[in-house]
Amino acid sequence: MMETIKLHDKEFITFLTSEQIADRVFELAKQINEEFQIENHLQRPIFLGVLDGSFRFLADLLYVVDIECGMSFLKLSSYDGIETTGQINQLIGIKENLEDRTIIVVEDIVDTGITIEYVVEELEKYNPKEIKVMTLLFKPDSYTKKIPIDYIGFEIPNDFVVGYGLDYDGLGRNLNDIYKLKENGN
Ligand code: IMP
Ligand code: MG
Repeated sequence: MMETIKLHDKEFITFLTSEQIADRVFELAKQINEEFQIENHLQRPIFLGVLDGSFRFLADLLYVVDIECGMSFLKLSSYDGIETTGQINQLIGIKENLEDRTIIVVEDIVDTGITIEYVVEELEKYNPKEIKVMTLLFKPDSYTKKIPIDYIGFEIPNDFVVGYGLDYDGLGRNLNDIYKLKENGN
């Protein structure tokens, strides 16, 4: 059902329903189950969700993933540097030994790719066996980086979206559907 909602000053309209999301998450989980089944002699992967946006996607994904695996969350904390060069990001939350492990980074959305590139480069420092990237949403027209995105839920246009983990200025992460910004005239 198409629904209009308001968050802060902006209106959003239904873009992907919870049923569409659930179907796609189920398919991605099944794909992981097949690729990483024990007979393929692949190592138990570790899923690393990037907070805050990936919390729902990763939870729903792992509801269906039935291989042996680890999971944890990472967070990018931005803090103002001592110098006046502006914001510096820092990856926090890594407690596991990632050496020689297969990492599956789980994101809610990859837009320009600046975030995922930073996350992957930081994780490389832990000498994992390999790093795969999974994102629920991908904006191909906006992507400027070379990091391969191995698992994509939905390719979407450059519209701003909220819901199912994604926020607009702190609101909307709890919504079950994904909504897109309502432009004037549609
Ligand atoms: P990137 O670094 O440009 O790829 O963007 C990464 C981050 O920007 C995501 O993890 C989101 O937090 C945020 N972001 C990008 N596009 C959207 C959107 O359409 N809705 C909500 N957040 C977004
Ligand atoms: Mg995010």
